[in-house]
Amino acid sequence: MKVTAEAIRAMKGREPIAALTAYDYPLTRLLDEAGVPLILVGDSLGMVVLGYPDTTHVTMADMEHHVRAAARVRPSALLAADLPYGSIATEALAVANAQRLVAAGAEAVKTEGGRSVAGQVAAIVRAGIPVIGHLGMLPQNVLVEHGYRIKGRRPEERAGLLEDAGALVAAGVFAIVLELVTPAVAEEITQRVPVPTLGIGSGPNCDGQILVTHDLIGFYPWFTPKHVRPMTQTGEDIRGAVLRWRQSLGSGPAGGESGNTEIIY
Ligand code: KIV
Repeated sequence: MKVTAEAIRAMKGREPIAALTAYDYPLTRLLDEAGVPLILVGDSLGMVVLGYPDTTHVTMADMEHHVRAAARVRPSALLAADLPYGSIATEALAVANAQRLVAAGAEAVKTEGGRSVAGQVAAIVRAGIPVIGHLGMLPQNVLVEHGYRIKGRRPEERAGLLEDAGALVAAGVFAIVLELVTPAVAEEITQRVPVPTLGIGSGPNCDGQILVTHDLIGFYPWFTPKHVRPMTQTGEDIRGAVLRWRQSLGSGPAGGESGNTEIIY
């Protein structure tokens, strides 16, 4: 059955929501076949797919390209996409760019920020596009904040996060990502808001969890965030498989007799 934004919203208090990122056809299809209800074409693709140092380099054109690939799966999951750096500077721009992502195949969009972008979020919702909010550590702010830092430790930060969450709910979001928020504050927000919270590095007491799939499966083995325990080591599997294939061709460090090509053809 097709998952809608309303269905994700209704999962609050009923069942934990498992959300993951995907950026292309095969990964989206595998996640969908594994029953993940919410798939995000995240701007984390800037790092784990495109090799940039952070998400600020990701453009609308990059997002559209990857959303189109993911959308070709026609997943049962709800397919959401990030509005990238600089794409929601004004309400008009936010609506136009959200519409571009929908035209590429997204069924919902995600925006970073709270009170400062509530007007843009409300405008996108008024245009009929479901929105996921994103609070806490905001990767698109990495240049101004000079790094990634846990949020909610100071009382004024906690109060600000609660206000931001309230502003996003008033603007009409159907879920809120909480990234690197202290577990206590993430739990408090989760209890206060009527929409599901999706934690990432914010403790276990959110309504669901969202991860960058490459982190979960060890597919970007050069960096693993502290909050992720990879379930498998895809990078190692690929290195091992390629090494074994080279060896079977006699091309590896300890060469073998015959290659897979003989078996296949
Ligand atoms: O870009 C991204 O992947 C995200 C995370 C919350 C998963 O925003």
